[in-house]
Amino acid sequence: MTAHDFIPNTYKSSIEKGSVTWESPSNIALVKYWGKKKDQIPENPSLSFTLDNCKTITTLSFAKRTNDDTDFSFDIYLDGELKDDFKSKIQTFFDRVEVYLPFLRIYHFVIETQNTFPHSSGIASSASGMSALALCLMSVEKQLLKSDGVQGADKNALDEAYFNRKASFLARLGSGSACRSIEGDVIVWGETDCIEGSTDLFGVKYPYKVHENFKEYQDTILLVDKGEKQVSSTVGHNLMHNHPYAQNRFQQAHQNMDSLKEILESGDLNAFNALVESEALTLHAMMMTSTPYFILMKPNTLEIINKIWDFRQETGLHISFTLDAGANVHVLYPKNESEEVLQFIKNELVAYCQNGHFICDQIGFGAKLIDNE
Ligand code: PMV
Repeated sequence: MTAHDFIPNTYKSSIEKGSVTWESPSNIALVKYWGKKKDQIPENPSLSFTLDNCKTITTLSFAKRTNDDTDFSFDIYLDGELKDDFKSKIQTFFDRVEVYLPFLRIYHFVIETQNTFPHSSGIASSASGMSALALCLMSVEKQLLKSDGVQGADKNALDEAYFNRKASFLARLGSGSACRSIEGDVIVWGETDCIEGSTDLFGVKYPYKVHENFKEYQDTILLVDKGEKQVSSTVGHNLMHNHPYAQNRFQQAHQNMDSLKEILESGDLNAFNALVESEALTLHAMMMTSTPYFILMKPNTLEIINKIWDFRQETGLHISFTLDAGANVHVLYPKNESEEVLQFIKNELVAYCQNGHFICDQIGFGAKLIDNE
């Protein structure tokens, strides 16, 4: 497949107005995406668990425009409040996807969005937010194609697999990691030899056996620092250009995909923990060795990591951590160890969280259509 396959024929469009609501989750990468080429093509493959509780719910209302203005026309609300400061991000997204969604200038859109997690929590809302918006736009396209009585190549567009692929493809153009938030429960993005069907264009469901040990795998997110990141991920990705360790890192990600495939099959939790922690620290090592360098971990991030290592050593439980591009810590553990680990989190780790805040989540099954009028 190529990007060209996502360009539809122009629609005749008999739909005046409508509204659609999708709920879409966040995801946590185990093998990290860090570094990209033009058009949000990743430098290396990544693999993530889709989350269940951390979600964005977006309603997209659309009505045919009556004026002749040719700019995109939309308003965006977060929790019922008009958010003009989000407009430039959506404008950039519309610019990038217009060729694949030729109806964008025909309608005025109202985007109403809310997150199930506090937006000042430092949890990236771009993955869930961009995937929810991409799914809403796909539902609009689907209605337009239906009303046209689709023919030829466009009849693909009514197919669920195509719908998900294109939604992921569009989400990627909004925010790279968002392409892994359409489906559950394990997603691969980025072409790599060991995973058949993997592609740089969109996320695909992990196609091989996943051991029972990973069923309902737990992710408790410790909110260490809820402030704005000092360095955006866009800037961070760009610093991988001319980075002295970039090529080795990209190669390592391919090897880690290979190793993780074996681990997911065998259920070897010790090997899993070693791999995900190494990936998390490598991501932050890339940041610390960029020019200019930067550090997103906070003192409490390191306190938590050391506590996790001590606890694992003492108890033999299969607890580990991973990190995103921020100071918060994702604590990973199997479902059957939840009781002991949660007790440990409450007794020993909550003290390092800002205002004692943490969010319990687990591996989930992807986005859901809530309403389509
Ligand atoms: O989707 P972006 O451009 O915000 O990049 C996010 C990258 C990491 O979260 C740090 C890693 C990943 O693979 O999700």
